Amino acid sequence: MNFSSKQCCSHVCHKVGIKGHNIFRSLAQTFKMLKVAQVLLICSLVGATNALYKQWIPDTNYENKTNWDKGKVPCGSDTVQFSSQRKVSVFVETTHAVQEMVLPMDGELILNSGAGFYVVSGQDPDCGAGVRTEFKHADLLQWFNPALWQAAATLNDLQDGHFLFSVHEESVPCQQDDVVFKALSSFRVDTSSSQTTIPVKSVSVLGKVFDSKSEFSEYLSSQSGLLQFHGSSSVTVGNPSCGDATGCDCGNSVNHERICSTVTCGTLSCEKPLLPIGHCCEVCGAIIVIHYSDSFNLENYRGRIRHLFLSLPKYESIQLAMSKILKPQRLMGIIPFGSSPEIQVVILDGETGKLSEALAQDMIKDIKSHGSNLGIAGAEIQPAREPGSNTGTVVGAVFGVLLVVALIVIVVVLLHKGIVQMPSMPSMPSMPSMPSLSRFRRNTDVDDLDGATDRGFDNPIFDKPDMLNNISDLYSTDSISMTQTGVHFINPAYDENETDFTI
Ligand SMILES: *[C@@H]1O[C@H](CO)[C@@H](O)[C@H](O)[C@H]1NC(C)=O
Repeated sequence: MNFSSKQCCSHVCHKVGIKGHNIFRSLAQTFKMLKVAQVLLICSLVGATNALYKQWIPDTNYENKTNWDKGKVPCGSDTVQFSSQRKVSVFVETTHAVQEMVLPMDGELILNSGAGFYVVSGQDPDCGAGVRTEFKHADLLQWFNPALWQAAATLNDLQDGHFLFSVHEESVPCQQDDVVFKALSSFRVDTSSSQTTIPVKSVSVLGKVFDSKSEFSEYLSSQSGLLQFHGSSSVTVGNPSCGDATGCDCGNSVNHERICSTVTCGTLSCEKPLLPIGHCCEVCGAIIVIHYSDSFNLENYRGRIRHLFLSLPKYESIQLAMSKILKPQRLMGIIPFGSSPEIQVVILDGETGKLSEALAQDMIKDIKSHGSNLGIAGAEIQPAREPGSNTGTVVGAVFGVLLVVALIVIVVVLLHKGIVQMPSMPSMPSMPSMPSLSRFRRNTDVDDLDGATDRGFDNPIFDKPDMLNNISDLYSTDSISMTQTGVHFINPAYDENETDFTI
């Protein structure tokens, strides 16, 4: 078995190779050899406009108890098991006592500065009777799962936990976003999608920011890269940042199905749910559609709303998502013809939506008095759908009405030109060329639906923002494997000057 480890600091790297058995009973000696990886702090990316930071939530860290099947970090009496067939990159932050460790076939342990393992002989009094504890695998965690990301406007906000709420499509990194994997952390993410690439502006891994396409693709093919990213598509960096102050389209609508397949919609507590564009579930709340002009600045407006309204105690429970969307346009409300960019503000209060409606009214008032200074040409509160109506029946009804109207016009024209004669009287109720008047009447009644229905099809589908729900499920699928071929300790950032030791 080959067991190798590399640690790198900004100037020196050491590689430790170990040939041995798959079970190490005396790890103390082995791990004493390991020098510590010095992990760089994230360099701040400044000057990005209208892009967000999207941080991957799960990790594959040794110290995170959710990563262990027994729900606790192993201690000195425990036998640590990485299952042989699973690939994983594990970040170890501090020093740990173990009784025994079973290593995987393909995996790596990334040791933080000062981290390591030592073996306790016999039972560790601080640990009690030992158990065999296994590291859970993270193979099922998908890039396109909106519950696994958190968004923030700046890196500081990310660190301080000031996260932004987004519709599902935008919870997943957009093409102009900076993607962050936590600095003192490793991870495993499935990047499968129907597209060949997942373009983003930059990706930071273990504190190193990648914004050059070639450098990142080189990283992806490195040992760590292969363990951290798997799946059919590859993430590419170097996509331009959003240069438009009015905002940019996220670009995730191509992945709508995939994103929504991971989302479970909750039950709604309101009568008239809404369907925000880019969201997977219906929501109770309010939607404002803003028509902007060239002087609109999305970032500034978001800040204005935050300071003016969201900071008020009465709006404490509000979640507000603001983004540029491409709203599908329909000729006469039916025939799709392109899309127009608008700003969509989705306001949720987690309850009936009454509080959201109040905030929406406040925002409209603000726009009425200051709109021209804010670059806002107009705004309206999107009306709720009537209960029970849905897009399919709406479109069907509108189509039906139009067809009937067209038929009437044709018949009237034909009658007028004398091409078709009016039937002589009640004797022929249903001539094939001319449906009966009673049928017309019945059909045109559908017209009443028009108003109600028309509002309905602006939006996709969606639910409440309890996005973290399925994380625990994903984590509970256990059995991870690593086997004894190679455990590599790699600091991806710097691996020149490697020194080999063999034990
Ligand atoms: C541990 O992992 C869980 C699930 O991925 C994550 O939500 C949590 O933030 C992690 N804990 C720490 C301390 O990072």
